[in-house]
Amino acid sequence: MRAPLSRRPVLWATILMAATAWAQQPGSLKQAYQGDFYVGAAMNAAEITGQDQQNDAILLEQFNSISPENALKWAIVNPEPGQYNWGLADQYVAFGVEHHMWIVGHNLVWHNQVPAWVFRDKGGKLLTRAALLARLKEHIFTEVGRYKGKIQSWDVVNEALNEDGTPRQSLWYRIIGPDYIAKAFEYAHEADPQAQLTYNDYNLASAAKLAGVIRLVKELKAEGVPIDCVGMQNHDHLDSPTAGQEDAAIRAIAATGVKVAISELDINILPWPGTGNTADVSIHMASSPKWNPWPHGLPQDVQKKLTEQYAALFGVFYKDRADISRVTFWGVTNAQSWLNDWPIPGRTNYPLLFDREGKPAPAYYAVLQAAGQTAK
Ligand code: XIL
Repeated sequence: MRAPLSRRPVLWATILMAATAWAQQPGSLKQAYQGDFYVGAAMNAAEITGQDQQNDAILLEQFNSISPENALKWAIVNPEPGQYNWGLADQYVAFGVEHHMWIVGHNLVWHNQVPAWVFRDKGGKLLTRAALLARLKEHIFTEVGRYKGKIQSWDVVNEALNEDGTPRQSLWYRIIGPDYIAKAFEYAHEADPQAQLTYNDYNLASAAKLAGVIRLVKELKAEGVPIDCVGMQNHDHLDSPTAGQEDAAIRAIAATGVKVAISELDINILPWPGTGNTADVSIHMASSPKWNPWPHGLPQDVQKKLTEQYAALFGVFYKDRADISRVTFWGVTNAQSWLNDWPIPGRTNYPLLFDREGKPAPAYYAVLQAAGQTAK
């Protein structure tokens, strides 16, 4: 007869060693940051529909939150007056519900990926304030209402500020006036009182834009508008923002009494003729080999800088975890990142933690390691 389990010291030693190793090196991003914040990724159509099984497996293994890269934007869901296409959006939400993920809705009000008819009457004339508010309310009630209790967090207004912190002169602003933002939050809150409501924008670690977002949040809160969170997109670069800038921005935003979501994280390692951390999707530039220097692989020194930048940012996120609700990457692997085609089409970019084959890049391990680097 074999000895009972408790009398087999070699076996127990092996189990103990394995458990210790497991505890020391968590097996996934979501596990590493368990209890700190959600770790999310944006899903594209192939991932939502199950065609991209490799990426779906990575999503399920590594992440506990999802965002829709495009599936819930106005132009996709409601391309023509009265025509709603729910197919992809329903599948996106069903994926998150089935796998018990924190589901983000992106987005309700934006000046991009919104059809031109939204702002005009049948004769082509710009709508009145009252008519556009009615259209906005209907859109928000329809979309938020459909996923009430399932989508836990909505990006209500996206990119309403200029780089100097002043209000963007979008058609929303010009037709309704500055209170279109407050109205959108009020409608969303009415449609689902439990949902976390977010204002989302890029380049928020830069001083002028940060001042603008803080002004906006303070005004909204003073008026009693139900805003819960600011999304910092963090479409970043190797040298920008610095850890110090990122930390200062997170703390300044959190000091206004809202949560912070790192909502669209990626690090663009490729050169381009522009400056600053813009993520303005309307910028397009011609392709040329000089702007695509690494089509066959990333040089060691750039890989190292990328890893260091990810380590620095996650060091900050971990330190500031009490103020952060989620950290979401804008995509799953480098192969599908929007940064392969924006602002210059057809490039080979390396902005995420998983390479083109779905294998973890060195930065992945740096991000795992950043968890637990300061006392809980
Ligand atoms: C991008 C998507 O990733 C692309 O597929 C699409 O062509 C354009 O929009 N800020 C945002 C996101 O809030 O919605 C944008 O997503 C990236 C910048």
